[in-house]
Amino acid sequence: MILPRLQDAADNAEVKVSARNVNVFYGQTHAIKDVSLDIADKSVTAFIGPSGCGKSTFLRCINRMNDTIEGCRVTGTLLLDGEDIYAPAVDPVQLRARVGMVFQKPNPFPKSIYDNVAYGPRIHGLAAGKAELDAIVEEALRKAALWNEVKDRLDAPGTGLSGGQQQRLCIARAIATQPEVLLMDEPCSALDPIATAQIEELIEELREGFSVVIVTHSMQQAARVSQKTAFFHMGTMVEYDDTTRIFTNPSDQRTQDYITGRFG
Ligand SMILES: Nc1ncnc2c1ncn2[C@@H]1O[C@H](COP(=O)(O)OP(=O)(O)OP(=O)(O)O)[C@@H](O)[C@H]1O
Ligand SMILES: [Mg+2]
Repeated sequence: MILPRLQDAADNAEVKVSARNVNVFYGQTHAIKDVSLDIADKSVTAFIGPSGCGKSTFLRCINRMNDTIEGCRVTGTLLLDGEDIYAPAVDPVQLRARVGMVFQKPNPFPKSIYDNVAYGPRIHGLAAGKAELDAIVEEALRKAALWNEVKDRLDAPGTGLSGGQQQRLCIARAIATQPEVLLMDEPCSALDPIATAQIEELIEELREGFSVVIVTHSMQQAARVSQKTAFFHMGTMVEYDDTTRIFTNPSDQRTQDYITGRFG
C-alpha cells in the first residue's frame, strides 16, 4: 500500500512503520485520537508526554498487543513495510517476531536464562541445531550487555537475576528473533545509571540494523538516544520532529511547556 508522504515524514529515511488516522478506544475511553506518523527505519524514535497521554497505547498498536486487552478497539491504518498490520491474514504471533517489545517491568519467563533467550528462536524455527541455537543465544546476550555476567550460569533461572539484569535478559529475548522493529516502553525506569548507560549504548548499536521506538519520561534520555521525537498530550500527537528541534525550538506551546517542566 502506498501512502502519501506526511509533511513531517522521516525526511529521506526509509519509512518502516506508517500510521494514519489511528484511534484507540477502551470501551468509552478515547485513548488515541487520530494519530498519523511515519517511523523511520534504522533510527530511534522517542515518544514523550505526560502520564496517561497514550504513549503505551500507541506503542502497542504497532505489534497488536492491544488485541490482548479486553474491550480495546483500534481503527485507522498501520503499515509495516507498506503492509497492513491489521489485515486478517496477519498472524499476530508472527508479527510480534518482527516487531519485538520490551516492557517497563522486566518479565522473564520462569525458565533458565538460556531458555528465556532461546524461546523465540525455537518457536520460530530460527536455528538448525544446538550449536546454532547456542550461537544465537550468546550473540543476543552479548548485544544486551549481559553475557559476561551470566555465561557461567546459563541454566540458572532468569527470575533469579537482579532487576537490571532481568531487563537486559528481556532485551536479549526480544532481539534473539532478530526483529525489524523493537518497541521499548520505559525500558530503563527500573535501572541504575550504569545499566541505563549500557542499554542506551545498546540502543545506539541496534539502530544500525533496526528501527527502535522508545517511550521515556526522561527528556535527557530522549535527547541522547533518539533522532526523532513525538510529543503526545491527552491522546493526540501534538508534535513530531527532529529530536534536536523538539528540545530546542518546538513549534507548539504545549511541547514547550512539557519540556520545560511546566506540566507532566
Ligand atoms: N487496559 C486499559 N483499559 C482501560 N483503559 C486503559 C487501559 N490502558 C490504558 N488505558 C487508558 O488509556 C489512556 C492512555 O493510557 P496509556 O497507558 O497509554 O498512557 P501512557 O502515556 O503510557 O502513560 P504512562 O506514562 O503513565 O505510562 C489513559 O487514560 C488510561 O487510563
Ligand atoms: Mg505507559
